Amino acid sequence: SVSESRWSKLAVTLPVRNVQALAASTGELTAEVIERYIQPDIDAFAVLDEHSDEVPVIDVGKLSSPESVEAEAAKLKFACAEWGFFQVVNHGIPDEVIMGMKHDIQKFFQLPLDVKNAYAQRQGDLQGYGQAFVVSDDQKLEWGDMFALFAQPPEARDMSYWPCEPHTFRNFIEKYSSEVMKLAHSLGVFVAKTLDLNPGLVEDKHVAQFLRMGYYPPCTPMPEKVLGFTPHSDMSFLTILLEVNSVQGLQIRRHGAWIPVKPCRDALLVNVGDLLEIMTNGKYKSIEHRVTINAHKERLTVSAFHLPNYDGIVSPILETREEKLLYKTVKVEEYARLFFTNKLEGKRALDHAKLS
Ligand code: OGA
Ligand code: NI
Repeated sequence: SVSESRWSKLAVTLPVRNVQALAASTGELTAEVIERYIQPDIDAFAVLDEHSDEVPVIDVGKLSSPESVEAEAAKLKFACAEWGFFQVVNHGIPDEVIMGMKHDIQKFFQLPLDVKNAYAQRQGDLQGYGQAFVVSDDQKLEWGDMFALFAQPPEARDMSYWPCEPHTFRNFIEKYSSEVMKLAHSLGVFVAKTLDLNPGLVEDKHVAQFLRMGYYPPCTPMPEKVLGFTPHSDMSFLTILLEVNSVQGLQIRRHGAWIPVKPCRDALLVNVGDLLEIMTNGKYKSIEHRVTINAHKERLTVSAFHLPNYDGIVSPILETREEKLLYKTVKVEEYARLFFTNKLEGKRALDHAKLS
């Protein structure tokens, strides 16, 4: 539809080098080139041991069964309120869909650069193979490439970006996307119930899905100085992340420090995004996260961002009349423009939505 496709005309990303090719080259990584990837603030906050704090695990099966729903919903509420981040198990997505998606993503990124470039991001588009959030010639660059698609609703798809290679990929993207959309819907309803919100309010705000497949090559010369993703929160309501090959890299910000999230084979990762923070009037806060880089191993992920209609608005929903309103009502289009035309900087975009 016209409405959804406008999502993809927001970006102002400047073209930059393909990082996979750069990482594989021997001669191109000169000191001058490397300089653009060195993140000066990478050590600004402590990185904790990955076992220092246990990331909540939510069992979707238990949310769906009358005997266990109460206890599991309490865990979900705690996870949303105290973490903004959790793992889901028993999520119901068939194993063959996940395995197929994982397999084809790896095959896709192994294709020669000119084949992948047939799907290169076109000027001003959020979709395609390339990078995002590059807005100036002197900003630091991220150590990674991405391949992004609007996947839901089906009318929002631009099939010219949908890959023909590997030959089963389109089919797996389609299946994975609709399975994850279903999961996002049921999680959205469960999350709404934890705050006694009308589930319909979430449903009609949760209508589009943007998929971002990320490829983070190893960085042999200085893995500890670069980032695959700089600290940011997601704009979405809920983001659902699949780690494709079990290489650690994601870190979440908690109590001022970074916690590495240990990949777990059977879990998907879910995080609260900015729009859910606004809608819950700050009861559920979006979580800041970043991606670190391995010296020897590549890392691949798929993020599915669940978003409202481009034409819509998002307002805080108050539970009681005494509750103080902390956020403005935002126009989705305006928030999206703000989000995608600036470089990522923690949770800064959300400052524009805060009252006082
Ligand atoms: C994202 C993101 C994390 C990862 O796509 O917004 O934070 O591990 N991805 O790829
Ligand atoms: Ni993110």
